[in-house]
Amino acid sequence: MKKYKTIFSIFHTIYRLTTTSDDIANFMIGVCRVYKSAFKADKAVMVCKNINPNGFIKIRLEDKKQYIKKGGISILTRRERDILKQEKEIFLDNRLVYPFIFSDTLGAIYIKRRPQGTAFSELERRWFLAICEEVSVSLKIFGLYRESKRTMISYIKSFTKLLDQYVPTSYIHTKSIFRLIRAVGKEMNLSQAEVKSLEYASLLHDAGKIQLPSKILKKQKPLTDEEYRLIMKHPKRGVELIKDLEILKPAIPIILHHHERYDGSGYPSRLKKEEIPLGSRILSVLDAFDAMFFGRPYRKRRFLEEIEDEFRRQIGTQFDPKVVVALLKILKRKGIRKYLQSFL
Ligand SMILES: [Fe+2]
Repeated sequence: MKKYKTIFSIFHTIYRLTTTSDDIANFMIGVCRVYKSAFKADKAVMVCKNINPNGFIKIRLEDKKQYIKKGGISILTRRERDILKQEKEIFLDNRLVYPFIFSDTLGAIYIKRRPQGTAFSELERRWFLAICEEVSVSLKIFGLYRESKRTMISYIKSFTKLLDQYVPTSYIHTKSIFRLIRAVGKEMNLSQAEVKSLEYASLLHDAGKIQLPSKILKKQKPLTDEEYRLIMKHPKRGVELIKDLEILKPAIPIILHHHERYDGSGYPSRLKKEEIPLGSRILSVLDAFDAMFFGRPYRKRRFLEEIEDEFRRQIGTQFDPKVVVALLKILKRKGIRKYLQSFL
């Protein structure tokens, strides 16, 4: 009975890893640990292909150490290459090997006990096979998810190109803002998923402007009250455009509140301080940085020192002090300064 409980708990763990891991390497580490502990193996190695852009990821757990390698085929040993090529399981007394196949070879696992240790029993071999079949399905799901994400990202990029042509005043420098998002994300301990949502939001925060008359967007003179009221609708209209896309759901609150101000005088909901989603507070600072650093059709670009002074002046009124402090800290780094200057 205890044995069956163990096997169910292994299946459940793999299911949970499949549904909660936001990164294939983390998923593989989790799966490798399950194999190593469930089968009391001295070594567990898992290889996956065509999932990361470089080609392969390899996880090796041996003794109490964990190794991760990402790269081309050269990260694989000759034996690992053979396992992938031969596409067949190998069950020996102290070694179990299984290539993950789901219409295509997705990777492989092998676990090993020391030759002088206990041999794998017939029951353990059956369990191993059943678990490997489950992991094959999980890897296929990861691949499909990644493919659908890629497709979605290419749609978003095409849409933002269109948006940039229609609303040149909202043009944001994707490469540099992504670098700053990652740096601020690290500084403020954001998860990988939160950073991703911020990246999507930075591309799409002004998407709602596409529904506004272009003569208002291109107007050089001050806006009338009526025109300003229309502009203020763009966060809600942007959310309307993307609300059915599952992958963009976490970006919705960020987009909806990207014009709130820390002191509560922004729009659409006049939220203040921590009521404003953290992503919106970060985006508001980085969008302002982009506008000041690169300039806009209606505004000249400014020097880094001037921008830093401007942020210090707006701490607590327009911007969240914590985000400003994080950005100013990042802007002190020589590497970031050099990177930003390279755009000019
Ligand atoms: Fe906006």
